[in-house]
Amino acid sequence: MTSISLRSSAAATFKADALVIGVHGSGEVVSAVDSASADVADILGTDFVATLNELKVSPEPGHVAKIPGGGTSAAVIVVAGLGPEAEVTLEALRRASGAAARELTGKKTIAYALPASTDEQIRAVAEGALLGGYAFDRYLSKLGGPIGEVVVLTGLARSKSAKKAVNVAQTVAAAVNLARDLVNDPPNHLYPESFAKQMKTLAKTSKVTVDVMEEDALEAKGYGGMLGVGKGSQRPPRLVTLSYTPRGARTHLAFVGKGITFDSGGLSIKPANAMVTMKCDMAGAAAVAAATFAIAELELPVRVTAYACLAENMPSGDATRPGDVLTMYGGKTVEVLNTDAEGRLVLADGITTALAREPDLIVDVATLTGACVVALGNKMSGVFSNDPVLHEALASTAETAGELMWPMPIPEDVKEKVKTTKIADLSQHNPEPWGGASYAAGFLREFVPEGMPWAHLDIAGPAFNSGDAEGYTPKGGTGAAVRTLVQLAVERSR
Ligand code: BES
Ligand code: MN
Ligand code: ZN
Repeated sequence: MTSISLRSSAAATFKADALVIGVHGSGEVVSAVDSASADVADILGTDFVATLNELKVSPEPGHVAKIPGGGTSAAVIVVAGLGPEAEVTLEALRRASGAAARELTGKKTIAYALPASTDEQIRAVAEGALLGGYAFDRYLSKLGGPIGEVVVLTGLARSKSAKKAVNVAQTVAAAVNLARDLVNDPPNHLYPESFAKQMKTLAKTSKVTVDVMEEDALEAKGYGGMLGVGKGSQRPPRLVTLSYTPRGARTHLAFVGKGITFDSGGLSIKPANAMVTMKCDMAGAAAVAAATFAIAELELPVRVTAYACLAENMPSGDATRPGDVLTMYGGKTVEVLNTDAEGRLVLADGITTALAREPDLIVDVATLTGACVVALGNKMSGVFSNDPVLHEALASTAETAGELMWPMPIPEDVKEKVKTTKIADLSQHNPEPWGGASYAAGFLREFVPEGMPWAHLDIAGPAFNSGDAEGYTPKGGTGAAVRTLVQLAVERSR
C-alpha cells in the first residue's frame, strides 16, 4: 500500500526519488512553470521553459516527461502538463498526478509540487497519484512494486481539513482500485462463489454486512433470471447483498450491479474476438460493492444496500436456450431470444430484490450493451432513468467525481417493444440492430414500479480499457462508476 502525507517543505530542497512539477501552456507549447514549483524553476534557470519546448515536452494534462533532478534534492523530475494556467481543473490535476505516478511505480518516495492550495486540489493530487500508481501484479512472478510514499507539498500541511481530504482520497482510490482488482482477476479465479467469499472477507474489517444467497436459496425463492443465466455454467450463481446502515440515516440508496464473471454469450455465443475482454462483465457488481465499502469507511450518514448479481454465462447442454421462458423473481415471465443479452435478466432479479427494503432510489450499474459503446464511445457511460431530476443530477454528480456520463433517452415506442412477445409478459431482446442500449434500459424499467426513482448506468465502454494507459486510468479494469456512486452518497447524505 502506498502511504500518503502532506508536507510544507520547499519543492527544490525536498529529498525524494522523484519530484513532480507542473507546467502550463496549450497545444504543443509550454508557456510557464506552475507557481507551486517556482523555486524549482529558479534553480533550473531562466531558459528552462525554452529547453522544455526544445525537448517537445507537452503541457497537456496527462502528458509527462522525465528529466534529471538538476540542482534540486530529487533524483528525477517529472514534468507534468496542467494545460492553460487560467483553467487548472481538478480533473487536469488528477490526470497530471496520475500520469506522473504511472512513470514512477517502484520508487520509494515521490514528492508532488503541483497546485495544492485548497482541500479539493490536495484531494485531486492524492487521488490521481493513488489511481495512477495502480498495478495489477497478482499473477506476475516478478513484481514491480507500488510507490512507497507519496508526499504532497502544500502550505496546508497542518490543516485538519486538508488531512481529511487526503483520507477521503485514500478511501475513494482504494475502492476504485478494489473494483479494478476484481475486474482484472481472471475468470478462472474470480467466479460467483469466489467473488462472494471476497465480499465476506472484506466485511470483517468494515461496517458493511454481507449476506450471500447460494443457488438452493435462489431456487427456493424463484430467482429465474439469475438461475437462467447461470444454468450453463459449472459455477453456480450467487446474489450478494451488502448493507451499510448507519444510525440516523434519512436516505436509503439501493445499488444493483451486473456481475457476470465471464460472458461467453451462452448458446448465442460470441465470436472469439468479442469474448476476449468479457471477464470485465462483472464491473457493475464490483463498482457497487467497492463504493459501498468506501461509503461505510467514510461513515457517510446515508443507508446503502448493494446487490451484486453474480453468474457466469456459458453454453452447455443444460444452458438456457433462445426460446426459453423464464419466470423472474417476483413472478414476471420473460421470453429469452438471445442468451447474450443476459445482463438484464440478472439485473431484473436484483432490482426486484432491492424493492423489498423500500429504498429512496435505485441505481443499477452494468456493462450492459455494445450499443452504448457505439453511441458514446469507450470513455463515457450512458445514464437512463424514469425520473427526469435524477437523470440530469447523475450526469453532474459524475462530472464532480471526475467521470463521464451522459443522459440517454428511452424512446416512447420501447414501452410497446418490450411487450412484443405473445407467449410471455416481456421480450428479453429486440432483434432490430439499432437502439439496443435504450431497449435494454426499457426492459429494466418494467421491473421498477411507478414512483420509484431509478437510474441505470451503462458502463460497457469505460469499465475496461483495452487501449493504452492514460492519465490515472490504467489498462484493463478502470473502476468505472465507483467515484460517481460515492459522490452520489455524499450528495444524498442527511
Ligand atoms: N456484456 C455484453 C456487453 C458488452 C459489450 C460489455 C462490450 C462490454 C463491452 C452484453 O452482455 C452483451 O453481450 N450485449 C449484447 C446484447 C445483444 C445480444 C442484444 C451486445 O451488446 O451485443
Ligand atoms: Mn452478453
Ligand atoms: Zn454481458
